[in-house]
Amino acid sequence: MKIAIFYGSTTCYTEMAGEKIQQQLEVLLDTKIDMFNIENVALSRSQEYDFIIFGISTWDFGELQEDWESSWDDIKSLQLSGKTVALYGLGDQLGYADWFQDALGMLHDALIPLQVDVIGFWPTAGYEYTASKAEIGDGEFFVGLSLDDENQYDETDDRIEHWCNQLVEELHQINT
Ligand SMILES: Cc1cc2nc3c(=O)[nH]c(=O)nc-3n(C[C@H](O)[C@H](O)[C@H](O)COP(=O)(O)O)c2cc1C
Repeated sequence: MKIAIFYGSTTCYTEMAGEKIQQQLEVLLDTKIDMFNIENVALSRSQEYDFIIFGISTWDFGELQEDWESSWDDIKSLQLSGKTVALYGLGDQLGYADWFQDALGMLHDALIPLQVDVIGFWPTAGYEYTASKAEIGDGEFFVGLSLDDENQYDETDDRIEHWCNQLVEELHQINT
């Protein structure tokens, strides 16, 4: 299984989280995981992979991170049908409580029409915010791993570790 992480990151937090996810999954799955900054690499390269992890941060009151913004129109022409996808996002639940992780939700919504299988939903318990476009169902889950290095930096490593283990389990279920 070919696996890659594609991320956009303005002040490096999404990048740092991606590096941790990469390291953990490489150990858990005993395979190499490629990692690309979409500032420099076209999103179309994601088509070369079977399992793709997308990382995004939210900026400016519920807006997309700038490199995602620049690549946004490319998403709809990606040929990702039948591929497995997981998402993670960086946000600030106290500073931007009305828009927490909105870009994560927008990315999920943009990928769904491509007929991908999304794994790695993450519980909303343990966060304090007012509204988020990244919630799914009855608000019990985010559409992907939600990280907040502004307010909950101490939890990031544990969350990444749990999420990576969850991804491995879900991948195993898909492939059996
Ligand atoms: C000007 C500014 C606007 C922001 N707007 C939001 C927002 O609307 N929602 C949110 O959840 N986080 C928001 N954030 C928090 C960022 O998502 C957070 O700092 C994140 O770690 C940045 O990740 P990056 O460096 O990988 O881009 C904002 C941060 C700044 C500085």
